[in-house]
Amino acid sequence: MRVGCALGLTLVVAATGCTRQAPPNAAAALVPATSTMVTAWEVPKNPLTDRSLGDSPTAREIRWGYQLFTNTPKEAPALAHGQIACSNCHLNAGQRDRALPLVGVAGMFPEPNKRSGRTYQLVDRIVDCFWRSENGTATPDAIATPASKEVVAIAAYIDWISDGYAAGHNPPWRGHNTIAADHLIPIDRLDAAAGGTLFNDRCTSCHGADGQGVWIGDKKAAPLWGPASWNDGAGAARVYTLAGMIRYSMPYLDPGSLTDEEAQQIAAYITSKPRPEYPFKAKDYLSSPLPADAVYYRR
Ligand code: HEC
Ligand code: HEC
Repeated sequence: MRVGCALGLTLVVAATGCTRQAPPNAAAALVPATSTMVTAWEVPKNPLTDRSLGDSPTAREIRWGYQLFTNTPKEAPALAHGQIACSNCHLNAGQRDRALPLVGVAGMFPEPNKRSGRTYQLVDRIVDCFWRSENGTATPDAIATPASKEVVAIAAYIDWISDGYAAGHNPPWRGHNTIAADHLIPIDRLDAAAGGTLFNDRCTSCHGADGQGVWIGDKKAAPLWGPASWNDGAGAARVYTLAGMIRYSMPYLDPGSLTDEEAQQIAAYITSKPRPEYPFKAKDYLSSPLPADAVYYRR
């Protein structure tokens, strides 16, 4: 259950009778953004090992949701046509600071979604990640819907890691994967070739010169471009969104070491590459302006 009145600062009983909670603390809830591959498999709240979860049908759904999240192409082959797991981008199973963390996020839905121009439930947001980041639109008769059992199970997992957070209150770590607006470089001034040089220097040891990823122990990054990568309608196909991801989580052995400019040049390089086409791009951004960094969209 989410706490209904967790607005206060300390564990005091307020005049209203509500038990107030301390505000969410990133240090306790998330794997730090500065940690390296040593913590690649660290998951603060892991349903496979958490005994308090029990063995109810809901508990089994949460566990499968976690497995879907961390091993998407294998667990949901009909809905995910790339070679990329949710947790390749949402690191540490969505529990790492500044790597698109999802802890405490469930209570923010329903929420307006600019790209689609309508209000999204959590399951709608997950469907979007299947269609776009997982490139799950290649087979029109097997496409994720809000009722797909895989989507419902992942929502159960995200709900579970959001337990105890106040509904309607942004967790303090949400939305921290962005480059500050005054540091954004206009798209036409970014230089994909300069980004390619940086990529060869800083990224190929793990991602390969072909961007397809190499095995490092039991970890392999997903393809950054090409037919098995996310499609051109994904958030990560936008230059500034991708730069924000890279800026705070990569290179994996020294996250945070790139400058805002370097992250943007590298993102320009990655988004200059071919990737699968999202077939419904014409239905996006009908009620809000096309963002400048949505470079795969027709202007
Ligand atoms: C030491 C190895 C290493 C280096 C160096 C590295 N990465 Fe990664 N990267 C990974 C691993 C491993 C993952 C998958 C993370 C996971 O599943 O926990 C990843 C994930 C990513 C992702 C998410 C999508 C995907 O394809 O998995 C992006 C984007 C990314 N890296 C970009 C970069 C960029 C850009 C650089 C260079 C600035 C870089 N990385 C350097 C290991 C590395
Ligand atoms: C290629 C990288 C990538 C992959 C793979 C990916 N996501 Fe995402 N996800 C993002 C980005 C980037 C955002 C931030 C919003 C955007 O699209 O601009 C996001 C946002 C979200 C959000 C909303 C978070 C919030 O704070 O509102 C949810 C929920 C989510 N993803 C779930 C998933 C699930 C579930 C999967 C697997 C089925 C998945 N994602 C796979 C990149 C990815």
